[in-house]
Amino acid sequence: MEKDLASKIEELGEYGFAFAPVHIIVTAIQLDLFHLLEEAKTSAELARIKGISYRGVTRLLEALVTLGVLSKRENRYLLEGPMSQLFLPSSPLCMGPYFLHLENLYRIWAHLPQVVTSGRQAERDRNPEFPVILARGLFPLHWFQALDLGEKLKTPDKGEVLDVAGGSGVWSAGILKHHPCLQGVLLDLPPVVENAAKPILNKIHLLNRYRFLPGDMFEISWGKGYKCIILGHICHALGEDDIKDLIEKSRQAIDPQGILIIIDFLPHPQNVFPAIFNLNMLLATKEGGVRSQEESIQWLRNGGFTIQQILSLRDKKGSKAFIATLR
Ligand SMILES: C[S@@+](CC[C@H](N)C(=O)[O-])C[C@H]1O[C@@H](n2cnc3c(N)ncnc32)[C@H](O)[C@@H]1O
Repeated sequence: MEKDLASKIEELGEYGFAFAPVHIIVTAIQLDLFHLLEEAKTSAELARIKGISYRGVTRLLEALVTLGVLSKRENRYLLEGPMSQLFLPSSPLCMGPYFLHLENLYRIWAHLPQVVTSGRQAERDRNPEFPVILARGLFPLHWFQALDLGEKLKTPDKGEVLDVAGGSGVWSAGILKHHPCLQGVLLDLPPVVENAAKPILNKIHLLNRYRFLPGDMFEISWGKGYKCIILGHICHALGEDDIKDLIEKSRQAIDPQGILIIIDFLPHPQNVFPAIFNLNMLLATKEGGVRSQEESIQWLRNGGFTIQQILSLRDKKGSKAFIATLR
């Protein structure tokens, strides 16, 4: 009994500073330290270059070493190896925007008691940069899953892939990398197209295989004849009527031999992430949430599609890809 209690206290106690790694990394990003650490420096050198406290920066650098983000040789700190790809802004896999997105979420999560009480999303200032940071932040998170999906996918050899609410274009890009005769079409809000999709697709050498549909997905025309349409991580932010609307628009825009792919998180009793994300959608959206596999299948069936395959993606958060064709 006592042993059980002690281990439960230890388990719950670990949540205590779960917030800290994000703040540590975000502080290094906001102080713009990472690019200076491409060449090894002591904390005294860094404090001098940036005009900041030696005492403060030393503790920050030590924490970054403990987190495995920086290396330390003698008394010099260095960003090297895979961490350079993950923290230098020039890299397409830079996770900086993802951490900045998490920092935005901390502000929203502070409203959880009111949101649970009212059942309605948090009142907050709309930061116009938010969708751009989110789209850029999701690229590294989804990239290896997208490559995996592209490798497994049997699509027609030629034609266009429409990436709806595509953000950086990550899902279609993963498919294009494995299918050299396909072309991409990315639909998202104009700032996201300009400041997330175009720069990232350029960095991964796919920009010349894309055309763009900047605008609101519910309002603009999607065009026709797509061999593949992707709704990647968008349904969780929407209510049922909007999801049905997107499936109907997909039905009208798809080639008779084309495939529709819906990618999203699914609830899982042993995985805490979908339950946390469900609260995140309560906080941040009007009607969004994590839906069951049965609900997604039903929406596709009612929308005129037949499910061909359900693929588990390479991620610990429990996403799946529903692959469907016209009935
Ligand atoms: C969670 S992100 C997913 C991005 C991308 N599909 C991915 O999985 O990385 C949702 C995307 O939907 C876009 N979006 C939201 N509402 C939209 C609308 N009404 N029209 C077009 N895009 C929209 C956002 O700008 C954002 O890029």
